[in-house]
Amino acid sequence: MSVFIFNHPLINDKLTIIRNKNTNTKDFWESVKGISRLMTYEVTKDLKTKEIEIETPICKTKKPVLDNKVEIIPILRAGLGMVDGIRELIPSASVGFIGLYRDEQTLLPHEYYAKFSKNICDDNTVELVVDPMLATAGSAISAIEMIKKRGAKNIKFLCLVAAPIGIEKLKKAHPDIDIYVATVDEKLNEKGYIVPGLGDCGDRLFGTIY
Ligand code: PRP
Ligand code: URA
Repeated sequence: MSVFIFNHPLINDKLTIIRNKNTNTKDFWESVKGISRLMTYEVTKDLKTKEIEIETPICKTKKPVLDNKVEIIPILRAGLGMVDGIRELIPSASVGFIGLYRDEQTLLPHEYYAKFSKNICDDNTVELVVDPMLATAGSAISAIEMIKKRGAKNIKFLCLVAAPIGIEKLKKAHPDIDIYVATVDEKLNEKGYIVPGLGDCGDRLFGTIY
């Protein structure tokens, strides 16, 4: 198990765009996608490869191709914003879905949807559970429980902005998974929002106000 915190200049630059309350929906979406794409290099660096024989214009040779299967699993809704950037780099990845929302009073997660490929329980599949926000960690902990129940074994969790308490709770609940965080913020406020954060990520990605 590991926690990797990026704090990378290119990622931090895009994070400032999504933190800004004046950023429009399109630029918000594009920046979430761009950060997710940048994170994918690090997240996938331990994927397995296998050698296959090919022929270049010069000679026959054995060269590596990706051996692991990858399933990207966004936590709806906001996790959807991270899928396209990862798929650009791993076009062979399948996509599963977990529908969860946080009750605004209790902050507890409620499940409303789950759909995964049958590869999810293969030893060779790596599951990338994605959600831009890790606040109380209730949603991430439940989502990972859901996929573990279906047999997932090689789980990585990716988020853009985390509260310190969220990282601690996720580590405690699932000590076997790898956690990748673009940046860690100061704290949660009394309503469970990350401070300074970026507000409600789902609403900002999809232009909704309820
Ligand atoms: C947000 C976010 C996470 C969750 C994080 O989703 O996308 O899933 O809150 O909070 P937690 O760590 O305290 O569980 P939300 O419940 O607002 O649903 P939505 O994406 O449908 O708007
Ligand atoms: N979910 C969000 O969308 N934003 C937060 O700050 C916390 C949870």
